[in-house]
Amino acid sequence: MKTLLLTHPLPAKMFADAVHGIEPKLPLLEYRPGLADTELADVEAVLGWRFPEGVAARLPRLRWVCAVGAGVDKLLVPELPPPVRVSRIVDAEQADGIAQFVVLMALRHARKLPVYEAQQRKRQWTRQAIGALRCHVGVLGTGAMGSSVARMLQAVGFQVTGYSRHSGQSLPSVLGGSDIVVCALPLTPQTQGLLDAKTLALMPRGSYLINIARGAHVVEPDLIDAVRSGHLAGAALDVQQHEPLPADDPLWDVPGITITPHIAAQSSPHTIALQFVQGWRCLQRGEAPHNLVDRARGY
Ligand code: GLV
Repeated sequence: MKTLLLTHPLPAKMFADAVHGIEPKLPLLEYRPGLADTELADVEAVLGWRFPEGVAARLPRLRWVCAVGAGVDKLLVPELPPPVRVSRIVDAEQADGIAQFVVLMALRHARKLPVYEAQQRKRQWTRQAIGALRCHVGVLGTGAMGSSVARMLQAVGFQVTGYSRHSGQSLPSVLGGSDIVVCALPLTPQTQGLLDAKTLALMPRGSYLINIARGAHVVEPDLIDAVRSGHLAGAALDVQQHEPLPADDPLWDVPGITITPHIAAQSSPHTIALQFVQGWRCLQRGEAPHNLVDRARGY
């Protein structure tokens, strides 16, 4: 069962080595532009992050797509035939890493670290009120990432409310009651652009946004306006609509917005390879791979 590696921008060799460390004979093909249709004709599986344009339509024998991460949004392309199964990596260590990043950014904001750093530059020794323990955090998304984020935030004393389509709370009430909002949603047509001028306006004045999901959840010009106008205190964006974020992107220059390059957490190549090989073995036995996503739902 030949597998095509579509891991760009992560190096395919890193994954090939990890997979071959577990299953040395597993046939792998590293994608490169210009690969002939004859080389793609017998590909039955993909291990990847995103489909380059037009590639899905050139894989007539494709049966399974395994994402190298938790999110599958860049792999659910319209050309993917309906019977193709799609799975993702479920990694508690990655979820904890994401949660740690969120706690770092939430505490940094709630304990006013940027204020003290600015004061230090001016040699100014001024105490500010401490309100972190009464801080309410709304976590949008209650899946593997959102639950881990909520647990870790609670462990350091934040008051946490989780929001999902089925949580029984309305999005406006969660946004309106949160000093900090964390986006941990899957990216689907329903959640794309969810955080726009209208929804950001529902967040209280002086509140803060942390996005560890996908850049496309946020309408970035609307966020910039919300921060520049002083409605939001700022945002920590580990993900952006355009990655890598171009050097001339206006997000870089907004006081209060912290940009990190999609580093909140990543599964190790070994963990990804282990879960991929498990799925590959399932298919060889005629069984379904683990951690399948519901393609209609998008996660
Ligand atoms: C990272 O963004 C992932 O989807 O795992």
